[in-house]
Amino acid sequence: MKFVYLDHAATTPVRPEVREAMLPFLGEECPGNPSSIHAAGRAARKALEDAREKIAGLLGTQPREIVFTSGGTESDNLAVLGAARAAAGLGKHVVMSAIEHHAVGHAGDQLKEEGFAVERLGVDAGGRVEPEELKKRLRPDTVLVSVMLANNEVGTLQPVEEISRIAHAGPGKTLVHTDAVQAAGKIPINVKALGVDLLSISAHKIYGPKGIGLLYVRKGVRLAPLLVGGDHEFGRRAGTENAAGIAGIAKALELAVAEMTSENQRISALRARLAEGLREHVPGVHLNQHATERLPHILSACFDGIEGEGIILHLDQEGISVASGSACTSTHREPSHVLAAMGVRAQLAVSATRYSLGRATTEDHIDRAIDATARAVQKLRQ
Ligand SMILES: Cc1ncc(COP(=O)(O)O)c(C=O)c1O
Repeated sequence: MKFVYLDHAATTPVRPEVREAMLPFLGEECPGNPSSIHAAGRAARKALEDAREKIAGLLGTQPREIVFTSGGTESDNLAVLGAARAAAGLGKHVVMSAIEHHAVGHAGDQLKEEGFAVERLGVDAGGRVEPEELKKRLRPDTVLVSVMLANNEVGTLQPVEEISRIAHAGPGKTLVHTDAVQAAGKIPINVKALGVDLLSISAHKIYGPKGIGLLYVRKGVRLAPLLVGGDHEFGRRAGTENAAGIAGIAKALELAVAEMTSENQRISALRARLAEGLREHVPGVHLNQHATERLPHILSACFDGIEGEGIILHLDQEGISVASGSACTSTHREPSHVLAAMGVRAQLAVSATRYSLGRATTEDHIDRAIDATARAVQKLRQ
């Protein structure tokens, strides 16, 4: 039985080209610490700065505005906690969407404990923030707005360009952060065009290694560092740089951007096939999606009369990997905060199933997923 992996929004395999780019830094070819002044150190520093330059070019910015981190979570934490804490003297009001990944949302909870007022912007039934809503919330003491570029559970794209414009025209000195972890490599990203001050990316969603990410920090933006120690990453993030990971994320982003148009076309067609198939073969299916503004590879569905994660377990037994849309433990079942914000009732939301497609996905995978879902739903309803 061949394995069908439909959980690319959770993580992706490392591409061979990426692995190849990383290998010199994992062995004797390029073992140096980029901070060392000898030849081995200088070689590592050169590779690291080449990677930074490549990434800056791909995102439409300057190399000094790219800070490498340990992944999307750290990038989000550094943006939200770092920017808010550094600006606390100007104000202690932060606005974020209600559908942020926990790496942003829980950073908001942390700020609350530190005395910040944190407001959450609601979304429409398609999962999209209403920029006019933001306008009403902005205050002279609003120091940060954080709205993700694309949501990880339902794939909805957010009007970040407009959000940046509104936030920067507000009454305060407001910085704008966007979590682009799911959007990177799927939609074109130019930080200047988006108008954001901070933007987070993670390598392992784009066929790069786990444990490496980056934060775009616009020149002049003040951040309180999360990690202190050496003067690495322009004093914004202490710790010996992950040279192999950095070579990996640069290669992964380069390939993702180069192949974006063709890959998106192929994957959008497969997603459409999945959506149609589910609608045709599974009665009582509800697709959690925006009609037009969405990522090509994520499809979230709920099913009437199904309680909990039975579908995921049934599919897993057939070698098909999909994700649940809710955070569950064996004792506590909590419907997704994203679906709740979209107005999906809790009883339905617990059945949420996320299919996320990728480079290896074929029509056959999609057909198998449709067929297995239809059988699982039927069995569970009985
Ligand atoms: C939207 C979003 N932000 C942040 C993260 C966290 O990234 P990482 O796993 O690299 O810490 C994820 C990963 O699931 C994500 O989907």
